[in-house]
Amino acid sequence: MIRSIRRAAVIGSGAMGGALAAHIANAGIPVYLLDIVPTELTSDESAKGLTLEHPTVRNRIVNTGLENAKKSSPAALFTPEVAELITVGNLEDNIGWLGEADWILEAVVEDLAVKRQLMATVEAIRKPGSVVSSNTSGIPITAIAAKCGEDFKAHFLGTHFFNPPRYMKLLEIIPTASTLPEVVELIARFGEQELGKGVVRCKDTPAFLANRLLTFFGNFVVSYAVENGYSVEEVDAMTGPILGRPKTASFRLFDLIGADIAFHVSEYLYQAAPNDEQREHLRPPEVVRELVNRGWLGDKKGQGFYRVAKKDGARDIYALDLRTMEYHPSRKVELKTLDEAWTIKSLPERLRFLVNADDRVGSFVWDNLSRLLAYSAMRIPEIADDIVSVDNAIKWGFSHQMGPFEIWDALGVGATVERMEADGVAVAPWIKEMLQNGYERFYRNENGRTSFYELATREYRELSLRPEFVVIKNLKERGKELKSNESASLIDMGDGVLLLEFHSKMNSLDSSVGTLMLDAVREVEENYEGLVIGNQGDNFCVGANIYEFAVDAQQGQFEQVQQTVKQMQDAVTALRHCLKPVVAAPFGMALGGGAEVSMAASRIVAAAETYMGQVEVGLGLLPAGGGCKELLRRVVSPVARMSSGLDVFPLVQKVFELVAMGKVSTSAADALQMGFLTQADRIVMNKDALLYEAKRAALDLAASGYRPPARTRNIYAIGERGLAVLKIGIHHMLDAGYISEHDAKIARKIAYVLCGGELTSPQWVDEEYILGLEREAFVSLCGEPKTLERIWHMLRVGKPLRN
Ligand code: NAI
Repeated sequence: MIRSIRRAAVIGSGAMGGALAAHIANAGIPVYLLDIVPTELTSDESAKGLTLEHPTVRNRIVNTGLENAKKSSPAALFTPEVAELITVGNLEDNIGWLGEADWILEAVVEDLAVKRQLMATVEAIRKPGSVVSSNTSGIPITAIAAKCGEDFKAHFLGTHFFNPPRYMKLLEIIPTASTLPEVVELIARFGEQELGKGVVRCKDTPAFLANRLLTFFGNFVVSYAVENGYSVEEVDAMTGPILGRPKTASFRLFDLIGADIAFHVSEYLYQAAPNDEQREHLRPPEVVRELVNRGWLGDKKGQGFYRVAKKDGARDIYALDLRTMEYHPSRKVELKTLDEAWTIKSLPERLRFLVNADDRVGSFVWDNLSRLLAYSAMRIPEIADDIVSVDNAIKWGFSHQMGPFEIWDALGVGATVERMEADGVAVAPWIKEMLQNGYERFYRNENGRTSFYELATREYRELSLRPEFVVIKNLKERGKELKSNESASLIDMGDGVLLLEFHSKMNSLDSSVGTLMLDAVREVEENYEGLVIGNQGDNFCVGANIYEFAVDAQQGQFEQVQQTVKQMQDAVTALRHCLKPVVAAPFGMALGGGAEVSMAASRIVAAAETYMGQVEVGLGLLPAGGGCKELLRRVVSPVARMSSGLDVFPLVQKVFELVAMGKVSTSAADALQMGFLTQADRIVMNKDALLYEAKRAALDLAASGYRPPARTRNIYAIGERGLAVLKIGIHHMLDAGYISEHDAKIARKIAYVLCGGELTSPQWVDEEYILGLEREAFVSLCGEPKTLERIWHMLRVGKPLRN
């Protein structure tokens, strides 16, 4: 068997195939993308006199597939250049390419006969030891390879990615009885480490794991709403974020998936799972059938459970009446219990409150959640061996914050089971046995170690995460937290590495974080080998807490603003000059101060999905925690140092555009191209392994004799001449109406800082000099009424104001 995947091939370049090839290329792996040869010419091709033998025609389908992947939104590729790793071809002229691939991934139409025939071809060409997998969402994996030989079957399995594969974390891996365990292990590890997915091992049962459960949940909710007179808007208000689920909730999700797709999966499951005790709920609900009949398929047709009417630039939303099938203007849901529930921050507490509410909200939530929990339990061990797989599949596949068994623990298993039985809901016998034997929870947390109730052994078993998956919560439960305040903590990660974790609101930087940054530097210099800055919140850091600035500026306390900025700069400078290596581990949003803290570190180990940018301009400000200085040091100075005669103005201009336009990277690879990251930094595909990789980087730096950067004149400032040119550009933008007066004012300040102020000639300056300019410009912008308007608007509405 092959040991690693150096080259892959994807067959089928449709919605999934194109996006899968893109994501494999994102991982840095060269990939062939193949599709069928067209059997007919398009009118365009005929007009050009092309024949079916022409190479352009023969690759037309696959070329279109790749183009769609390149244009897709959200982007399938980390950067446009990644597409160079994808080589397109067709299944006739280039079929031999399959013989080079270590992994062949089939993503062709959902048709057993087509897939079988394709596998016969693949079997004849694949190289010995290579792995073949199918992305089917429903066809039994065993059936696809049924006619192939033993060696093929031993290397064949299902790999069910969710759409869009770059962003959806879940990867269901479905071995058959013939798949070699080492093949499963290879693909699971590859999926986790190199593609960054969360792997759940499933059984070869109808629709596998996540879609089986979702189909039941979805159909049950629809039928329940119809029978009990709940409106589409009410159901979505009760099944979205309030339950820890995405805003798409229930009916919006149907519209997104498409009524036809939901209908077909349901029909298929109804046929394929005849022994399911809830089989009636696998059958498509009447109203979904009706939507399909009317062609109201959801978003792709502009109407489904909702209809969006665009008029004069405005969007009017209508909702479907489930009984009359008529649309009415979507109504704001006013349910007192929901308002009250929203005041409860903790999700487990909120769920307890909702299921116990004595009104129609309470009945709805209880009836739906209890059926969902009961159904999930009934499917074990049929579709998965353990509760962890079920919880992970639901969390990773559908972005729910809690899986069914975690919810059940939160509600209290014993009491919930009693209530279900009183309602006539059948509870899986294994749960009753579990309770009888004195096990009252599905999960148990003791000293930072999580165990789960295992069906096979009827005991708790420790959840064995890979050692790469460091969990901060567990470290804290094991007593590793050395110090903390309301915004940050210092945690001992083991092996001589200290972790600075932000946990303020939205992980913003405030003075409490600043205090702990300085403590971290002192502590690490005395007692540790290195420092990691990272956390496991929703985003790494959304920037500085601007509320503090806004209040001081509003009251004209500019001396205080100046001091706060200086403190932030001092904390960031302390990180940069720490005697021990500091590694930042950004992921998700790393904006404003989040980008500055990252760039102050000795190294950045970033998650592949990192959105980094200096976005201060949106608040009427500019980066003043070293952001301008660092971009000059990273982007402009190395080139100026390498060749003293070279004109570096275009690079200054590039940095100016980054800052003045508040550009944000669309991935870590993009951040590298923009100059936030350098070639010495690392990108990690799996976010769960980020802290581990950052820790390794810190230890590597320490082991190779780390020295902090010397305080020299290391920043190249272009001076007055560059400033004059940038100002002309700003003037033109203003003149042409692209930017406002206030934008222009901020842009001029940014240009001033980036050119090193009023230097008459280009020269090398030290970091402190640029930091001084940043500070001065920042404080002066805080005195601008329009800047204050922008800040208060952001604090109130959460969106930038253009004024
Ligand atoms: P699609 O319809 O967008 O693309 C199918 C591709 O198969 C087309 O490029 C087509 O040219 C090619 N094809 C057609 N006949 C062929 C043949 N005889 N031999 C080789 N290729 C042929 O379909 P999509 O959505 O990309 O689905 C592909 C597979 O992925 C299916 O098995 C589907 O169930 C599965 N899947 C789809 C998801 C989705 O959201 N679209 C999600 C997860 C799995």
